[in-house]
Amino acid sequence: MTTVPTSIAPASRPDGWWRSAVVYQIYPRSFQDSNGDGIGDLPGITSRLDYLAELGVDVLWLSPVYRSPQVDNGYDISDYQDVDPLFGTLDDLDELLAEAHRRGLAVVMDLVVNHTSDQHPWFVESRDPASPKRDWYYWRQARPGHLPGTPGAEPDGSHAAFAPSAWTFDPASGEYYLGIFSPGQPDLNWENPEVRRAVHDMMRWWVARGVDGFRMDVINLISKPAQLTSGKPLEAAASGFEAIANGPRLDEFLAEMNREVGLDALHLLTVGEMPGSTLEVAQRVTDPERHELTMVFTFEHMDLDGAPGNKWSLVPLQLPRLKQNLALWQDGLADTGWNSLYFDNHDQPRAVSRFGDDSPEHRVASAKTLATVLHLHRGTPYVYQGEELGMTNAPLTAIDQYLDVESLNYHALATAGGLSEGDVLASLAAKSRDHARTPVQWDDGAHAGFTTGTPWCAVNPNHTTINAEAARHDPASVFAHFQRLIRLRHENEVVREGRFRLLLPEHDRLWAFTRTLADQVLLVVANCWSEPTEIPIDELPLLDGAALVLGTHDEGSPTVLAPWESRILLLP
Ligand code: GLC
Ligand code: CA
Repeated sequence: MTTVPTSIAPASRPDGWWRSAVVYQIYPRSFQDSNGDGIGDLPGITSRLDYLAELGVDVLWLSPVYRSPQVDNGYDISDYQDVDPLFGTLDDLDELLAEAHRRGLAVVMDLVVNHTSDQHPWFVESRDPASPKRDWYYWRQARPGHLPGTPGAEPDGSHAAFAPSAWTFDPASGEYYLGIFSPGQPDLNWENPEVRRAVHDMMRWWVARGVDGFRMDVINLISKPAQLTSGKPLEAAASGFEAIANGPRLDEFLAEMNREVGLDALHLLTVGEMPGSTLEVAQRVTDPERHELTMVFTFEHMDLDGAPGNKWSLVPLQLPRLKQNLALWQDGLADTGWNSLYFDNHDQPRAVSRFGDDSPEHRVASAKTLATVLHLHRGTPYVYQGEELGMTNAPLTAIDQYLDVESLNYHALATAGGLSEGDVLASLAAKSRDHARTPVQWDDGAHAGFTTGTPWCAVNPNHTTINAEAARHDPASVFAHFQRLIRLRHENEVVREGRFRLLLPEHDRLWAFTRTLADQVLLVVANCWSEPTEIPIDELPLLDGAALVLGTHDEGSPTVLAPWESRILLLP
């Protein structure tokens, strides 16, 4: 195989550098505590940079560390240009940036600008109807014929993601404001050019500080439907993001931001989180000629084990739907645009528990095979903290063990709406965001080495066997497999750029595909099942004479894959 070494030099950031990068997401609150208060912090992250360099990733994405009342763990920001004391200081952040850059690691900040916190000075000022900032948010009158502030008087029946209503009554002015996540997260009015300028200024300030890009929180929600922006409530009650996502001015706002901040000119990595967006939107937004974003996070593959618009209504995942969906995006962005690749993040249950098999017998193999499949797609892979260890969902069985605002709101509404406690707990056990937020398991000691104090969120008891210390010294660990996958991408252009083709699309256990660049062809075959599976040789004639590049198991049968075994093969 041709070996094209790549190295990321954040200082120079060559054009398109993010195409060969692997990104590691840090959820700071749960990564590493340095001062014993039980909450992860910036000095904690800095102390673990050597571990991340050892893993081999190129970029760190930090979930929000800005000043915040922490209604949604930092996704409710009250000061964009300061660090919350929970996490440290701006000096700590500068230190982290410098130490990361010294190791060749780029740093991407979370950018949460669809909404602010209700404690942000902009919103505090906006509460006064006479203030010039009134129009920076969406303020509306009560529904005609209703007494403001009484039940049912909300301007329309839209639900918030983490609260019963998207409208919150403000007694001082007698009006309601829009917060499509929670009352603590009022939506900014992007129609107002002053809002956009303020966001651009803030972004330039971060770029000057040395950050290498932005992960843009729910960025396809910034342009709201015409009905709302024309001064009225929403036409139809909105629930789920489809009703408000991808508004008419989205491309305009993104292109303007790119131009004003110099995102492409400075070769920054920009990834837009886009719930409710389609391939068509992604094709547009990531078309390099349009200068909007370098890549987006789709949700389509995350929505296949839930009912449409309701992730809590569980639907068994069918492998063909998952692999066909990823293939659709591979094909759709093959010629223009770029994919981001993820199975795990801070909003999703752990992939090994969700798509793999987290039983002691199959956890390691299934974590490796899920990684093999994902990292051999074309795009920029994202590793979420702990994924490289095969960390699992937490054993949560009662509502008082849940901490997340979304979990608690769902429990309250669903039980009030008549669902049984058992059904609600079953949905939470499958889908709660709490699973991703348990502290990183560093070692088998007290609190897994995450803190010397009391952790803000209980450590998963399985840290006695699943932890970084054990994994780093075990060549057969999930961690070691991630290292190999990352190296394979760095060293082989066919992994980065090769054309993707899905094979056996209807097979319900095997995930098979090729990657082709000039005369090089890689074949990936993965058994996504907890029993041995025969490879249908007549449907995969390619296999003949292929050489193993990387596998999850020691030499096995040429025609049968062990449970959760996967192989990356080079065709002759
Ligand atoms: C994004 C974040 C999520 C947050 C929400 C509101 O989906 O990833 O954690 O709750 O936006 O900011
Ligand atoms: Ca701390």
